[in-house]
Amino acid sequence: MAYYQQPQDVTTLPAWQALQQHRAEMAGFSMREAFAADARRFQRFSLDSCGLLLDYSKNLIDERGLELLIQLADQAGLHQSIAALYNGERVNASEDRAALHTALRSPIGRRLLLDGHDIIPEVHRVLNQVTELVSRIHSGLWRGYSEKPIKEVVNIGIGGSFLGPQLVSEALRPFTQRGVRCHYLANIDGSEFRELTARLDPETTLFIVSSKSFGTLETLKNTLAARDWYLAMGGPEEQLHRHFIAVTSNRKAAIEFGIGEENIFPMWDWVGGRYSLWSAIGLPIALAIGVSNFKELLAGAYAMDQHFTQAPLAENMPVLMALLGIWYTNFWGAQSHAILPYDHYLRNFTKHLQQLDMESNGKSVRQDGSELNIATGPIIWGGVGCNGQHAYHQLLHQGRLLVPADFIVPVNSYNPLSDHHQWLFANCLSQAQALMQGKTREEAEAELRAKGMNEADVQRLAPHKVIPGNRPSNILVMNRIAPFELGALVALYEHKVFVQSAIWGINAFDQWGVELGKEMGKEVYQRLTGQVDSSASDASTQGLIDHFRERHRG
Ligand code: F6P
Repeated sequence: MAYYQQPQDVTTLPAWQALQQHRAEMAGFSMREAFAADARRFQRFSLDSCGLLLDYSKNLIDERGLELLIQLADQAGLHQSIAALYNGERVNASEDRAALHTALRSPIGRRLLLDGHDIIPEVHRVLNQVTELVSRIHSGLWRGYSEKPIKEVVNIGIGGSFLGPQLVSEALRPFTQRGVRCHYLANIDGSEFRELTARLDPETTLFIVSSKSFGTLETLKNTLAARDWYLAMGGPEEQLHRHFIAVTSNRKAAIEFGIGEENIFPMWDWVGGRYSLWSAIGLPIALAIGVSNFKELLAGAYAMDQHFTQAPLAENMPVLMALLGIWYTNFWGAQSHAILPYDHYLRNFTKHLQQLDMESNGKSVRQDGSELNIATGPIIWGGVGCNGQHAYHQLLHQGRLLVPADFIVPVNSYNPLSDHHQWLFANCLSQAQALMQGKTREEAEAELRAKGMNEADVQRLAPHKVIPGNRPSNILVMNRIAPFELGALVALYEHKVFVQSAIWGINAFDQWGVELGKEMGKEVYQRLTGQVDSSASDASTQGLIDHFRERHRG
């Protein structure tokens, strides 16, 4: 069944054209002046929901701009797109699938029919299966081959079968249950494998093979290596089932691979990899923080789902963030978006959002295959503050590129240390403030003169000290990085990405772009290893293959 939506050219909508005109009118807009003229700008452009405060007042917007952006969402049929997503329509048209990650956090008792079948009981059946496994491992009932309890869990997976679980289990480290440590093995890199296994004891290690497709090269190679390692370290073959379990929608491939049938946790083709941390792919999360905290995470995401589906567009956090992103990408020429969490525990958030956003919206055609003539998903980059301030923030402040940024910060730290957290929070606020406010030539000169500098030096130095300002950012504040708030935060970005895809007319749930490199990788491998004699189709690749073959030892 084809997806219902008739993808349209968003640039033909009246609101798009009005926004183009508004952009021209905004050429001289100064955020500094807007704040000076309106003491209530923060109150007017901020929003509190699901444990998150979004301050979007430091953006290049006024009431009219916001109104037009909301009209754009309306005219682009956003309400219908949201309904289609939640109702299980095949919004992933190229793969003819629904995208029902939202069902994974839906409370028991709700009904959601997919092809006439209610999927919520199935979701909760798997959640119970996860609960049972976690309790067997935590209580020491699940034991390794030598009857010792499991102490180390290694998640073997990559992309969405890695980034989400890693983000959450490490972000919620203060909630870690004693007894089990989680590790992640993703890349096809012997160094990563050896560094990790050197710290493990096969008697007390459980490997979780996380792969929706059960066909991902890196994951399968690492699983084979883990199996070899286990056997080489003295693990008995007949006890492998105590040390290897899998989460996959490809049960058959997992069984063929040798995973015991009873050790396979299902997932479904209607959950995309980058949206899967809420499913049994989140097993390492539940093992790390316990099932009740995992359920709190789901509850936070569900709260955001409720907000997303019920709040009016003008008071809807994911919608506002998405529209601001479109404003900068399509009307101000921004090509990237910085994600700057000011919290050690959120240090992996940017990596998760890179996959979520770039794999979802890094597309050039609409759902119906027609070509887009506008920019789509931005490059997502960034990292934990304050470290970035001493590295790439220079470009944010004085570079020629416009880079909208999201600052994310908790009010309270789990590790109060002297006045560290006050300084961390202050740095977060002041970075956003400096980006917005900048420093004029007059201010720069006055500052230098106040230091007693002679006029020649003032004139020489002043241009370097000027900061243009007027650079947009959002600030997201939460009380603490706790399961509920984190669930809401991750879901917020999922929905932001979806809104943008819906307005651009993109399918956010496929990722055909990654396939070509995988296919070509197989051919290059065959030439590197001498299985194929013919030359690569280009001289560069062949030259590098020759270089490798001449020098590679081992
Ligand atoms: O290659 C991209 C990708 O398919 C991602 O979309 C996915 O999250 C990742 O690989 C891992 O896939 P799987 O869970 O099937 O191993």
